[in-house]
Amino acid sequence: MSKRFALSFAAAAALSVGFAGAALAQSAEPITPIEPAKVTDAALVELGKKLFFDPRLSKSGFISCNSCHNLSMGGSDNLKTSIGHNWQKGPINAPTVLNSSLNVAQFWDGRALTLQDQAGGPIANPGEMAFTHTLAVTLLESIPGYVGEFKAVFKNDKITIEEVTKAIAAFEETLVTPNSRFDKWLKGDKKALTGEELAGYELFKDSGCTACHNGAAAGGNTFQKMGVMEPYKSTSPAEGRVAVTKEEADRFNFKVPTLRNVEMTYPYFHDGEAATLTQAVDVMGRIQLGKKFTEAENAKIVAFLKTLTGDQPDFKLPILPPSSDKTPLPTPFE
Ligand code: HEC
Ligand code: HEC
Repeated sequence: MSKRFALSFAAAAALSVGFAGAALAQSAEPITPIEPAKVTDAALVELGKKLFFDPRLSKSGFISCNSCHNLSMGGSDNLKTSIGHNWQKGPINAPTVLNSSLNVAQFWDGRALTLQDQAGGPIANPGEMAFTHTLAVTLLESIPGYVGEFKAVFKNDKITIEEVTKAIAAFEETLVTPNSRFDKWLKGDKKALTGEELAGYELFKDSGCTACHNGAAAGGNTFQKMGVMEPYKSTSPAEGRVAVTKEEADRFNFKVPTLRNVEMTYPYFHDGEAATLTQAVDVMGRIQLGKKFTEAENAKIVAFLKTLTGDQPDFKLPILPPSSDKTPLPTPFE
């Protein structure tokens, strides 16, 4: 390559960097916008939506996925720990189902790899819906409306639990929340955030929160120690990722929760012990980063976190096909 050519090449490169500068600065943000869901099979999603809302998949006939992941309340139950079959006290805080398709794995300890793997769990969990997969399938097969809908979607005569979980997972994949004010800002609408909110975002970045809360979900993509700088005291028996990997190094590592819609998904942490965002930010600053935020700093970060609330699921409430004379009766008090 001649010297002259090399020089002009370098000059052209510098120029194009200059032009691309604005765009580069944006794509360099550690949090990226949430994109709307692309629905490829609307009938499958519609079936999954019905199943998500159907309490007949529980022993009591009373608990549906939506009982603990209430889509009117940020996909959570807003309880420290959930209430399961027979009013049993759940062991851990219910994470939101919103944007769960962006998670590296499901559950606080990541023991389910995919949404479909996850969806079979609660139905058969004695402390949650307390049913069995066989009973769930028998029940669905007794409901003519479901038989017809499964047949239309899956093109076969028998209902299987894999079809049930596939449909639920397809519905969950649509539960993304684009268009938050923060995403509008990321996409170039500089008026979408107030000065206070923007200062909160800068503080969030400069303090190191984005080391763990990054990507489109502002979390959900890694497992991290709860209590990096100082131990987290909890009465919860949850031990984190070690339960899955059996590696001592993973003790008290939890999946970093998404901060999308975090304003709606209180209380916080796996034990639900932080009732407010103010508390959660204070704990995170101290135990993850060794920083004690002033009241004003904390308020700025909280103001920023509230800009992460996006479009909530918006659809017609599904009307569930009625049971038939053959449908097994629920047993709520056993
Ligand atoms: C009794 C309350 C309850 C019911 C009913 C329930 N869940 Fe959950 N869900 C939880 C709890 C608690 C967790 C966290 C458990 C853990 O991490 O160990 C969870 C975790 C999840 C997660 C993982 C989210 C994440 O970020 O890791 C998904 C997805 C989910 N549930 C979907 C469902 C679906 C689908 C149904 C219905 C088939 C359902 N849940 C029924 C309480 C419930
Ligand atoms: C070293 C990684 C790491 C850093 C740094 C970090 N976090 Fe977290 N964050 C986590 C983990 C892990 C959890 C879940 C811990 C648990 O519940 O046991 C969490 C939970 C949270 C929650 C509660 C979310 C919920 O739904 O329960 C909020 C809010 C939060 N972090 C905000 C922040 C803020 C603000 C900062 C910076 C001051 C920060 N985090 C820094 C890893 C981190």
